[in-house]
Amino acid sequence: MIRVGVIGYGYWGPNIVRNFHRVSGCKVEMVCDKSAEMLGRLAQAYPDIKSTTNCREIVSSPDIDAVAVVTPVWTHYELAKSALEHGKHVFVEKPFTSDTAQAEELIEIAEKKGLKIMVDHTFLFTGAVRKIRQLIDNGSLGNLYYYDSTRVNLGLFQHDVNVIWDLAPHDLSIMDYLLSERAEAVSATGQSHLNGHEDIAFMTVYFPNNVIAHINVNWLSPVKVRTTLIGGEKKMLVWNDLEADEKIKIYDKGVDVRTREGVYDLLVSYRSGDMWAPQVEQVEALKLEVEHFRDCILNDTQPLNDGIAGLRVVRMLEAATTSISKKGEVVHLNGKPTRAVHAFAKHA
Ligand SMILES: NC(=O)c1ccc[n+]([C@@H]2O[C@H](COP(=O)([O-])OP(=O)(O)OC[C@H]3O[C@@H](n4cnc5c(N)ncnc54)[C@H](O)[C@@H]3O)[C@@H](O)[C@H]2O)c1
Repeated sequence: MIRVGVIGYGYWGPNIVRNFHRVSGCKVEMVCDKSAEMLGRLAQAYPDIKSTTNCREIVSSPDIDAVAVVTPVWTHYELAKSALEHGKHVFVEKPFTSDTAQAEELIEIAEKKGLKIMVDHTFLFTGAVRKIRQLIDNGSLGNLYYYDSTRVNLGLFQHDVNVIWDLAPHDLSIMDYLLSERAEAVSATGQSHLNGHEDIAFMTVYFPNNVIAHINVNWLSPVKVRTTLIGGEKKMLVWNDLEADEKIKIYDKGVDVRTREGVYDLLVSYRSGDMWAPQVEQVEALKLEVEHFRDCILNDTQPLNDGIAGLRVVRMLEAATTSISKKGEVVHLNGKPTRAVHAFAKHA
């Protein structure tokens, strides 16, 4: 039985508590929130779970094996570090930390102490992303051309981070999982209108072999859109995460280009075949993710979304911040850790 302490019971915390509570082999031992009002909500939903307003009670408790950090981004580093130093495994919200130095330090502490870090890159555990990875891995899409995502809605404005740090970690972690090569460079532009943090931003990520990604994130959109296009040499797909059924549609469309012998002009032919919507598994992603965390602790294996995966995402976010301050200048990324390959991915 893994005894879990959860810090932060605001908007996202209840989802984490609910999933650790229902998964076999895990028990929510205690929940901490600075706000008595939030703990009142916890008491109503789970009268048997202990609560505290002091996070030290969780990080130093001998009755807790793992700590979930579900607080605002600027607090992740301190809380995760304290938990690791007290010998606890850590499940930490996205984005992992506020900068790469913090992420590297946490990874080092965890390695020295033989502890697990899992960063909540929830989308990796959705049926849609697992299906897309399958389609890429089995060659259905062919060599990839691009990843193009629109993730916009009205709010929720965050107080400590801009819209890129809030919404783009989803796409960056998905791309990091789907694409076989590591990102090489980032460029971003954005503008703030209300609270001093960019509330609309456009990010471009450059990958080897001419693969390009674009992410449009916006807290000032009148409508919610969650649509991603992935273009491949053989097929192209549209993933609309707001669709209840048929989230993914695969189009047998493409362009073939040949050069006519002895003639300089190109022959371009457009291919327009069938469209189909594959079956997408409907299990709640957080449940699978929490089970994966449990299994990694019990079997001493490395999580698919470990601290290093979290660091890669923070590195791209940090580069985006630099680029925004220079009006979109291209920022090159250093270091290319290898692609995450894990038993979970193989079963996807
Ligand atoms: N994975 C996802 O899809 C997803 C979705 C939403 C939010 N998040 C992440 O979850 C984290 C929390 O976001 P949120 O929207 O729930 O924020 P929130 O502000 O709604 O809730 C945070 C809670 O943490 C509490 N808190 C802050 N510092 C604390 C401390 N030191 N000790 C105890 N309690 C403390 C606050 O009182 C608040 O109730 C963020 O990192 C965010 O990026 C992830």
